[in-house]
Amino acid sequence: MDQDQRADIHWTEDGVPVSARFGDPYFSLGNGLEETRHVFLAGNGLPARFRPGFHIAELGFGTGLNLLAARIAWRAAGVAGRLRFTSFEAFPMAADQMARALAAFPEAAAVAGPLLGAWDRGDRVIRTDDLEAEIVIGDARETLPRWSGRADAWFLDGFAPAKNPELWAPDLLAEVAAHTAPGGTAATYSAAGAVRRALAEAGFAVDRRPGFGRKRHMTVAIRAP
Ligand SMILES: C[S@@+](CC[C@H](N)C(=O)[O-])C[C@H]1O[C@@H](n2cnc3c(N)ncnc32)[C@H](O)[C@@H]1O
Repeated sequence: MDQDQRADIHWTEDGVPVSARFGDPYFSLGNGLEETRHVFLAGNGLPARFRPGFHIAELGFGTGLNLLAARIAWRAAGVAGRLRFTSFEAFPMAADQMARALAAFPEAAAVAGPLLGAWDRGDRVIRTDDLEAEIVIGDARETLPRWSGRADAWFLDGFAPAKNPELWAPDLLAEVAAHTAPGGTAATYSAAGAVRRALAEAGFAVDRRPGFGRKRHMTVAIRAP
């Protein structure tokens, strides 16, 4: 892969990866795993909505923390079969960078082995006994319109809209809606007015929830059944 397309990372003293390209951390400086559970799992009504064949899609794969949090929740819920998870990522991290980031979350790191091993071998489709994941490499503005899937739940996890506006553009959020199953949902940590308006214009019913940590609000969205 072209060197320009790799993640360019520096690290805070607390071990949080920060994108040099976007000037933003990959997850909360507080507790990234708890943030994922609050924003993306609870925000999408998970684990309660899990059922066989459930499909999560994500904008921004990053460290894989959200995938691992979803997989932990899936296992705990005891649903039969594999959780499907598709994530769109333009600037993939190296496996050793992901491992370093995940080391801060022992619960996630404990189940990361198969993912990191496969990722290091160059696999972008990863199957385990409880997971069927695909990481689609490339700019989501190009790759998502070509995707044939429809997700039951979306994790909208670009960097902050002010720093990574292309991942929150109305056109792309319209593609998210077009790739959402009837009754499907989306959640994001962002409460930015432009994001909320774009989701509403795309056809979602948009609602505000209490955010994680110091963030006052976050956004949840549902497509009509
Ligand atoms: C906040 S991080 C995602 C964190 C991740 N979900 C996790 O669990 O670690 C945002 C991600 O979006 C990716 N990204 C930024 N612009 C993109 C684009 N146009 N298309 C696809 N991915 C993009 C970045 O490279 C980065 O990995």
